[in-house]
Amino acid sequence: MQARFDINGFQLGIMTFNKFYCGFQKDLAMPVLISPEKTQQFTHFPKLEETPRGNNATKMVQLSSVSKTYGNGCHTLVDVSLEVKKGDFLFITGASGAGKSTLLKLLYGEELPAQGEVIVDKCNVAKLRGDRLSLFRRRIGVVFQDYKLIPQRTVGENVALVLLAQGYTRKEIQRRLEPTLKLVGLHNKANCFPEQLSGGEQQRASIARAIVATPPLILADEPTGNLDPDNSWQVLQIFKKLNSFGATVIVTTHDEQLVRRCNHPLVQIRNGRLYKK
Ligand SMILES: Nc1ncnc2c1ncn2[C@@H]1O[C@H](COP(=O)(O)OP(=O)(O)O)[C@@H](O)[C@H]1O
Ligand SMILES: [Mg+2]
Repeated sequence: MQARFDINGFQLGIMTFNKFYCGFQKDLAMPVLISPEKTQQFTHFPKLEETPRGNNATKMVQLSSVSKTYGNGCHTLVDVSLEVKKGDFLFITGASGAGKSTLLKLLYGEELPAQGEVIVDKCNVAKLRGDRLSLFRRRIGVVFQDYKLIPQRTVGENVALVLLAQGYTRKEIQRRLEPTLKLVGLHNKANCFPEQLSGGEQQRASIARAIVATPPLILADEPTGNLDPDNSWQVLQIFKKLNSFGATVIVTTHDEQLVRRCNHPLVQIRNGRLYKK
């Protein structure tokens, strides 16, 4: 795959990561830890081009008549239905307070619907508890507006911690770290602490953390909310690249201009309801 990015040092990283990311397609289908033996075979896994797309793609997300009311009686989402296929890239827009974060929280099981059903990668999210919920969440990479990096840890450590917590071996962590940091253009900043990075770099570090375990679904909640237009564009290019590797990507934003530049499907939340645009 041809890599075209303006982030310094990006090119090599993308080529490496592409092979790396595609190599894990099969593992991604199973909610289990990846054994070191299996990771040796990553070149034998199917190429991304074989991942079904369009009408033949299977569903990654399905919301059926979902409503969400918070304890204070606030009707945040009303009768929301949405289908996102594997390999799709979807923008969710809406004014501040419209319910964008709530919708994403329903997808990774942080909130439960008052009514309706939320199915993500064939799992009924409301029914997951304990270990099953933890394993399910490992298959989703979440990116937040405020990065949520651990200030006392370096970029490399912030990213590696995700894998450590999931029981990956040090060798496997080492193998994943470099291509992931290269992909987001931060391979020269692995030893920097978050406060030594610009906002754009911090967001790219948080993306690295979200994707280092190669989750098939990436949810980004206003990832460009604190960034200037150039950095916002760079961040979106990373999501586009991950999507081209096969990841399903859902991005919320209130930046309509950014969305217009991207030419991806778009839904909008207004008064708790979802509208296709
Ligand atoms: N934990 C909560 N308890 C009560 N109300 C909440 C909670 N979280 C969000 N809300 C309310 O739900 C609405 C949607 O919030 P949110 O999903 O964060 O919107 P957005 O991400 O689009 O800005 C807002 O009115 C907000 O005040
Ligand atoms: Mg929000």
